[in-house]
Amino acid sequence: MIGNETANITVEAIASSTFRGFELRKFAMEQIATLPNYNWCGVYILDGNQLVLDAYIGAATDHVRIPIGRGVCGTAVAENANQIVEDVSKLENYLACSLTTKSEIVVLIRDASGEILGQIDIDGHAVGAFDESDEEFLESGGKLLAERWL
Ligand code: SME
Repeated sequence: MIGNETANITVEAIASSTFRGFELRKFAMEQIATLPNYNWCGVYILDGNQLVLDAYIGAATDHVRIPIGRGVCGTAVAENANQIVEDVSKLENYLACSLTTKSEIVVLIRDASGEILGQIDIDGHAVGAFDESDEEFLESGGKLLAERWL
């Protein structure tokens, strides 16, 4: 759950920065990692049939390459749909990054024609940390990243 004002301030910070490409994605992850519950924040880039870890803030993860269909991240691409997981312990198709993670949201990043470029993945330490307000916020952020992808 993210408030409107916090979402707007954060999106505005990303929009008004002059970065592009990896630098912009890194800056965006730094911004959103300051928000409550946004405990691990990263971008995965779709490269063929795999997701490849790009800019991230948080603990190093083993999951630097994720095949489509695996875990929450791979499921988002396979189903062409954002994922909000209230309680990751209830999922069978889950790739654990950290034992402290309880909930997760994955929002797809698309180019102007709707093709998937990658995704924003956020892990939270509380059950039910994310809802549609976070999805909407991350959609706005993802759009900015897509516009300055390279
Ligand atoms: N939990 C993810 C893997 C990526 S980590 O959260 C950084 C998944 O199940 O796809």
